[in-house]
Amino acid sequence: MMRALVLAGGTGSRLRPLTYTLPKQLVPVAGKPILHYVMDQIHATGIREVGVILAPQTGAQIRSSLEDNPWGLSFTFLLQNEPLGLAHAVKVARDFLEDQPFLMYLGDNLIGASIVHFVELFRKEQPEAVILLKEVEDPRSFGVAVVNDAGEVTRLVEKPKNPPSSLALVGVYLFSPAVHPIIEHLRPSWRGELEITDAIQGLLERGHRVLAHTLDAWWLDTGKKDDLLEANRVVLDDWLKREIDEKAVLEEARIVGRVRVEAGAVIRRSTVRGPVVVGKGSRIEDAFIGPYTSIGRDCVIRRASVEHAVLLDGTVVEGVDRLEDSLLGHRVRLVRKDGQPHHALRVNLGDDAEVVL
Ligand code: TTP
Repeated sequence: MMRALVLAGGTGSRLRPLTYTLPKQLVPVAGKPILHYVMDQIHATGIREVGVILAPQTGAQIRSSLEDNPWGLSFTFLLQNEPLGLAHAVKVARDFLEDQPFLMYLGDNLIGASIVHFVELFRKEQPEAVILLKEVEDPRSFGVAVVNDAGEVTRLVEKPKNPPSSLALVGVYLFSPAVHPIIEHLRPSWRGELEITDAIQGLLERGHRVLAHTLDAWWLDTGKKDDLLEANRVVLDDWLKREIDEKAVLEEARIVGRVRVEAGAVIRRSTVRGPVVVGKGSRIEDAFIGPYTSIGRDCVIRRASVEHAVLLDGTVVEGVDRLEDSLLGHRVRLVRKDGQPHHALRVNLGDDAEVVL
């Protein structure tokens, strides 16, 4: 029976300061951790055995976020002591994977379509690997594949200066056990990592068949702040439904469009224009919340206007009349004392930051 391997280790350096305290796979998009969307996808394929690669620094947080396990999946946690590359993670999982084919999924990747067809293609054609590709405008920062008319991959290049195609590798792959001996003999790349693209290239060089499946829907690699805000925007646009919990308190509240208000949230003398999520227990008073905003739990937004932003749990924004394109960590306090008008504010603040303007 096919197994899944989810990579939830790594360092997440590009998403600092947030990732000093929160693994990037747990950063919420539209109020839900990225990793949970990954588990939704895996669950839909029928796979039940899931290995999860953990880093020593963030492993405990990843494990506890999966404790509720609404998917009923069987998790095996696998510690990778150092982030030595995607192919190194497969090496760490070698015993868990046995000699079965497996689905490998990067825990910080979000895609806008089901992967069920992708898995079916692998089951039907039984190649040595299937890789998921997405057409991108500037392929230079990705692994890039060249594909022939039969849908077979003929060549792979990592971060090419002169891309031979516009098809980038999305972080979802299917492999037969033939990949293991190849990984066994891989050498680290110039950046000191065992690269999965080198492993796939190794399959090609030994004459194995590698098929490509091209994704029509969106793909978001939430590496940086702007990617994360974009992911939040797209997910809110595509998947959010209007849903106002009966335990929410609304007084003089104007709720326009697709807005999710969770239990215990309080909205007073304010306008909320969707798509917006207001998390459990958050309080919004004399405020305007504009489109593409995700507010975590137990936040307070008072005498403020916020738009196109992600606020994590326990954050306070007060007296700020235009906060936009911003990412705020847990328990941030962003407070303006006087009532003078000011220019729009764009910030990227980690946990416990305090800004008094
Ligand atoms: P990357 O985004 O390539 O690496 P990273 O997490 O180290 O991030 P940054 O470049 O910002 O420092 O990793 C893709 C996914 O794979 C991500 O979910 C982390 C995971 N990963 C591992 O589990 N083990 C590894 O050795 C590496 C490199 C990544």
